[in-house]
Amino acid sequence: MSSERNEYYATVLDSVGDGVIVISREGQVTLMNPAAEELTGRSRRQTLEVPFAGAFSSEPVLVEMVQRTAANGVSRSDQDNVVLKSAGRLVPVNASTVPLMRADGEVIGVILTLRDMTSIRELEAAVRQADRLSTLGTLAAGLAHEVKNPLGGIKGAAQLLERELDPDNDLLEYPRVMIREADRIDKIIRQLLELASPKGPRYSPVNLHMVLGDIILLQREAAGSREVSIVTGFDPSIPPIMADEAQLTQVFLNLIRNALEAMTEGGRLTVTSRVLSEYQLGHDEGRSRMVAVEVADTGPGIAAENLPKVGTPFFSTKEGGTGLGLAICQKIVSEHRGMLKIDSQPGQGTRISVLLPLIQSPAKG
Ligand SMILES: Nc1ncnc2c1ncn2[C@@H]1O[C@H](COP(=O)(O)OP(=O)(O)OP(=O)(O)O)[C@@H](O)[C@H]1O
Ligand SMILES: [Mg+2]
Repeated sequence: MSSERNEYYATVLDSVGDGVIVISREGQVTLMNPAAEELTGRSRRQTLEVPFAGAFSSEPVLVEMVQRTAANGVSRSDQDNVVLKSAGRLVPVNASTVPLMRADGEVIGVILTLRDMTSIRELEAAVRQADRLSTLGTLAAGLAHEVKNPLGGIKGAAQLLERELDPDNDLLEYPRVMIREADRIDKIIRQLLELASPKGPRYSPVNLHMVLGDIILLQREAAGSREVSIVTGFDPSIPPIMADEAQLTQVFLNLIRNALEAMTEGGRLTVTSRVLSEYQLGHDEGRSRMVAVEVADTGPGIAAENLPKVGTPFFSTKEGGTGLGLAICQKIVSEHRGMLKIDSQPGQGTRISVLLPLIQSPAKG
């Protein structure tokens, strides 16, 4: 073979991503590519021209595979449970051996290939984790379903009892507690289901200002009795954006409720919208235009030590709060490829910003 051709083959072998080691019939290592060096933690120089069994004495599985194939010319593949001790770390590999045969069928050596399974193992672990989460979701859904019916029975019975008792009966307090608590369990179950639900947004053009206007109209009553003024400032140039209307309604309702609940002594709720042009989201998302909806209140704010916990499921400082409101907001907003930002000055108020990509529906012609 010409040296040019030799070099060509060497380059091909060096470029293969899997580790390749060629062992002669006498058991000497005659070839080893860089991937094999990397995987086994042994340099080509220290391994070439020495007995394979000696150089790899710490890897008896490989030695055995090579010896068998050299002896009987039979390939062994998909040995998945090989773990190499390479330079202090353990590398899971898939090892296979094939006989190196001359044209006349004589076995003149063995080719051992090693495939790094680290990333595949990591992927498998990630899939298992996702699986567990979806099992959890299914479990939550099943549980919720099972609990709902008896809960309805308890509430119905308590309502009957409430009706049967005289209005001035001291015992009336008890069925009322039962009804209130049953409602609370019902709310927790509904929110838990929402959080565990794997269904993503169903996109259609959404007019944000209409959604916000409707929510504010309904909440104004609750606010009025507590001396809360509501101020809005919408940018009328914002077009309908592609989003899930029911989900966004839930987000804004949760935020506005939180703001109103925070202002027990009265105050001002400000809801605004604006376009952030050329907003940089993350580093590799590229530049995209975003819409920001901000809900600001003049309540007591969030204590610095609570700030990191806000939004984790079940964190609540409210009597009767589930602590699932913001967690659901975060899930919905991130599924819309947006961001939820919380700014809070203890003693001055809280501002929550919902950033959503300004995606318009394809123009209809
Ligand atoms: N605007 C706000 N001002 C002050 N604190 C807030 C505000 N919004 C949220 N928080 C804090 O974050 C916590 C979590 O809010 P989240 O909406 O997740 O649950 P919750 O309001 O307590 O319960 P739920 O929403 O189920 O009624 C609240 O209990 C409160 O301590
Ligand atoms: Mg809330």
